[in-house]
Amino acid sequence: MNINKNYDLSKLNTFGIAAKAKFFVEVHNEAEFKELLDSTEFKNNQRLFLGGGSNVLFTKDFDGLVILNKLKGIEILKEDSESVVIKCLGGEIWHDLVVFAVERGLWGIENLSLIPGTVGAAPMQNIGAYGAELKNVIENVEAFDIATGEKKIFSKEECNFGYRDSVFKNKLKDKYFISAITLKLSKKEKKNLTYKVLTDHLESNNIEVKNSKHISDAVADIRRSKLPDPKVIGNAGSFFKNVFITAAELNKLQKKYPDAPFFKEEDEVVKIPAAWLIEKAGWKGKKVGNTGVHDKQALVLVNHGGAEGEEILALANRIISDVKEKFGLTLVPEVNLI
Ligand code: EPU
Repeated sequence: MNINKNYDLSKLNTFGIAAKAKFFVEVHNEAEFKELLDSTEFKNNQRLFLGGGSNVLFTKDFDGLVILNKLKGIEILKEDSESVVIKCLGGEIWHDLVVFAVERGLWGIENLSLIPGTVGAAPMQNIGAYGAELKNVIENVEAFDIATGEKKIFSKEECNFGYRDSVFKNKLKDKYFISAITLKLSKKEKKNLTYKVLTDHLESNNIEVKNSKHISDAVADIRRSKLPDPKVIGNAGSFFKNVFITAAELNKLQKKYPDAPFFKEEDEVVKIPAAWLIEKAGWKGKKVGNTGVHDKQALVLVNHGGAEGEEILALANRIISDVKEKFGLTLVPEVNLI
C-alpha cells in the first residue's frame, strides 16, 4: 500500500478538475483496506472514497485522504434455468459488468449501458436510465464498516433505495466502503421498453430486439448522441436531479407553461424534467467562461477546458436561482459537491 501526498486528481474525476488531495491511496484488495484502516493518514484525516469520479465536483482541494476503489473481479455465484446470480467487486467499471451480462445473453442491466463510473458507486445513488434502475436487479451490497473494519452484507431492503438515492448517501454517509454488489439477472427475455426515447430509437432504426445486446447497443447509441464524452469535454452526466411536484403544483405550472412535459410517478406525484426547466430558462448551450451547459442535454454542465470547480459551482448556483425565479421550483444537484 502506497500513500501519496499532494496528489493531482484531474485524471480521477470526469469533470477534469485539477484539484489536489492531501493524501491519496489505491485499494486493490481486502488486506490493503485493513492495512489502510490502521494507518495514521486514515485515522487522522477526513476521507473520500472515489470510484470512477463520474459523479463528483471538486470545488476546492481535498484536505484529507482520497481512497480509490480498485477491487476487481466478476464471478457467477449460482445459476439455474431462469437466472444467474453474479457478484462483482466495487472497483470494476460499471459498463464492463453490463458487457459481461449481455455477452452471456442475460437481461436486467442492458438499459443501464454506458453509465460512467464504477460498480461500487452504482448502489450509492441507485443508478438509473431508460426506465431501469439498479434496485430492480440487486440482491445485496457488501461493504466494510470504516470504524471497525468489519464486513457487512446489506440486503436490498436495508439499502433503502430511492430515486438516485440510498442509505449510503444518507444515514450511513461516509460510514461504509462498498466492496461488492450481487445481482440477479434473468436468462429469460425481459425487455424493458417503457421509455419512449428508447422505443422511438428502435423503431426509427428498424431494430428488432432479439437479445439484451440489441437494447444495450441502442442505449449506448442514444447516450453517445446526447451526452458528451468526458474524455473530450469534462462533465459528470446529469448535474441536477429531476424535480418531483404534486398535481396541484403541476396545475399551477401548466397555467403559465401549458407545454411543460411531465411524467406521472407513484402517489399523485409528477416528475418534471430538470433539463426542460433549464432549457426553458434559456441556459441550454450557454457558455460562461470555461464552463457551460451542454448543447444537446441541458441537464449536463460541462468544463470546456481549464475550469475550476468553483466556476462550475457558480454556474450551477446561477441556474438554480434563475429556475427558482422563473418557475418557483428548486433544482437540487445530483452530483456530490466536495
Ligand atoms: N429535455 C429538455 N431539454 C433537454 C433535454 C431533455 O427539455 O435538453 C426534456 C424532454 O422533455 C425530455 C425530458 O427532458 O423528454 C427527459 O429527458 P431525458 O430522456 O434525456 O432524461 P433526463 O430526465 O434528462 C434522466 C437521467 C439520466 C438518464 C436519462 C435517461 C436524472 C437526473 N437523469 O435524464 O441520467 O441517462 O434520464 O433515462 O435522472 C445521469 O444520472 O448522469 C444521467 C445521465
